[in-house]
Amino acid sequence: MQKTVLAAVAALFAWGSTALAEEFPTRPVTIIVPFAAGGPSDAMARILAERMKVTLGQPVLVENVTGAGGSIGVGRAIQSPPDGYTISFGHLGTHVCNGAVYKLKYDLVADLEPVVLLPSNPMVVVSKNDIPAKSLKELLDWMKAKPSPPTAGTAGAGSGSHIAGVYLASITGVKLQYVPYRGTGPALNDLIAGQIDVIVDQTSNSINQIRAGTIRAYAVTDAKRVASAPDIPTTDEAGLKGFHMTLWSGMWVPKGTPKDIVAKLNAAAVDAMKDPAVKKQMENLGLEMPPQDKLAPDALGAWQKAEIAKWWPIIKAADVKVD
Ligand code: MLT
Repeated sequence: MQKTVLAAVAALFAWGSTALAEEFPTRPVTIIVPFAAGGPSDAMARILAERMKVTLGQPVLVENVTGAGGSIGVGRAIQSPPDGYTISFGHLGTHVCNGAVYKLKYDLVADLEPVVLLPSNPMVVVSKNDIPAKSLKELLDWMKAKPSPPTAGTAGAGSGSHIAGVYLASITGVKLQYVPYRGTGPALNDLIAGQIDVIVDQTSNSINQIRAGTIRAYAVTDAKRVASAPDIPTTDEAGLKGFHMTLWSGMWVPKGTPKDIVAKLNAAAVDAMKDPAVKKQMENLGLEMPPQDKLAPDALGAWQKAEIAKWWPIIKAADVKVD
């Protein structure tokens, strides 16, 4: 008798979760962006959300939950119900580097289900305009000659812009004074105003200000130039051979989210990335779309694990301090 009851309960549960997945979503979906509005993460999430709502048939909202290099927003997403209605937006910084910088109250792999790998871009070394440097070499000379360390805006310890700054400092011997913001949107405003000296920023965040001439670009951290910003040299060309760093983004949901729901969110994001208008917006920001063969959820999972294996030893060796 007991076995029959258990079998019936299991069947009912299975039917229930399938029925849930078939109806999903029946209300708005929220993407938690762990950085301030107006920055590169926020911009990419809003571009995708606008198109994902078409496939999902429900509004897709963006909520900015900031602080601690993005780890507060990721933690908020992880604590939400595993029902597909809360997505954790993040990137190399939040879903890899933070794990080596902070004693997180969560596990970046065990507590999250990967949904989809998103566009990526190199970092770009940018400065305020009133620095007398016209090349990366001249900028580094200026930084080394300063009586006090130059100020570098970041999105907080463990963020992409912070790790990129640490990377630059470690290979050039330049000392930097890191100035943490709730995202590189606000940091860029201060760079334009001349309040801070440099940012090693996501290209997508700085590219329009570079084009407008309100800040100065020196090099992109890649072996090839950014197609939509061909005037910016690579770090290799600018004399910093091998200073390469690609900041990729992704979406995750809390562990335990039904696979059928993960598949629906993945399909909505893939549809968005295939949309010609979305592709044009991303490419104009200097973002590269992910490879076609890396769009399944488990491809993001494998990539995240490989990046943890690569970056954690580098970050731990650099003894990165939390501000
Ligand atoms: C970072 O530096 O980690 C991000 O670019 C910050 C942001 O998206 O605002």
